[in-house]
Amino acid sequence: LVVLPLLSGCTKKTNEILIGEYDSLTGSDATFGLSTNKGVRMAFDEVNDAGGIKGKKLSLITLDDQGKNEEAAAAVTRLITQNNVVAIIGGVASGRSKAAAPIAQSHKIPFVSPASTNPDVTKIGDHVFRVCFIDPFQGFVMAKFATENLKIKKVAILRDVKNDYSVGLADVFNTEFKKSGGEIVADLSYQAGDIDFKAQLTQIRSKNPEAIYVPGYYTEVGLIAQQARQLGIKAPLMGGDGWDSEKLFEIGKQAINGSYYSNHYTTESTDPAVTEFVKKFKAKYNETPDALAALGYDAAKILIAALERSADLSSKSIRDELAKTKDFGGVTGKITLNENRDATKSAVVIQVDGNARKYMTTITP
Ligand code: PHE
Repeated sequence: LVVLPLLSGCTKKTNEILIGEYDSLTGSDATFGLSTNKGVRMAFDEVNDAGGIKGKKLSLITLDDQGKNEEAAAAVTRLITQNNVVAIIGGVASGRSKAAAPIAQSHKIPFVSPASTNPDVTKIGDHVFRVCFIDPFQGFVMAKFATENLKIKKVAILRDVKNDYSVGLADVFNTEFKKSGGEIVADLSYQAGDIDFKAQLTQIRSKNPEAIYVPGYYTEVGLIAQQARQLGIKAPLMGGDGWDSEKLFEIGKQAINGSYYSNHYTTESTDPAVTEFVKKFKAKYNETPDALAALGYDAAKILIAALERSADLSSKSIRDELAKTKDFGGVTGKITLNENRDATKSAVVIQVDGNARKYMTTITP
């Protein structure tokens, strides 16, 4: 990477505030970026319709990382060095945030991840923020749900070793489930892009687990569910936020029904912030917003609030204002960015019920 002269603060003399966004808009994680982008655009449109910020309109430049770490890095380089954005919203997949955020950090451009939950992401530096909870909590949530709600003792793990998020979450679950008295009867792996999981599932079947924890992304999870049922495994699957896609049921079909995952919000909430958001989103896009749409919206709103407080709209002052985010009433909960630039929030557990996401419980930190 060639580090060009710092462009921080170089907003061009225009009537626009340029904000960059990159995510997976194509590839096997495409709904991550497509949903996030809808949430971000909705927030930006609301501000622009109301006259913009300090007389300027927000302008969003969105690039596709195709689900590849190196493309995420290239996208951020381009947004900063060619498009001169003052801030970046980006990074659903933790692995891609880990590849891309160091570039924003080195150029001193604030980077807000809506959804990357791996703890290492914000450790990259003081310009990297996230508006979601982190995986040490998310792994604890499912271990607690398995122990206290499902009352099970024997779980197998199937992790994606090519995915930083999956590996981190599998490790946390392993530790937390054992701490609460459970036993991990198998801990096996696959790699994103695999399509045949029968060897691992056959091994898992021989251990008779009461559930299988699969903290991966929806495409592989759907296939794993199908193949588990084909092999006669009846135990439910459990997972994390990486399951949250309308494609999960399309790929997993009946096989994924009844399985559980942790997530950032539920559309069943009666909180006015949620009902209002869901109503507006459906009116605009004619679909029910998933967690990424909600997190994209919250990330954009938090950035907008920082832009409004910023005296000169320079990247430096935007960064400083982001760091002061406190008690922000988001769709996904009340958001305060702590000294590690992370948010502490509750999680919900969802049961897959066809295309619906059935709310089970809320677990607070
Ligand atoms: N938390 C996941 C990761 O860090 C990304 C994700 C968030 C996916 C929310 C779906 C929904 O990789």
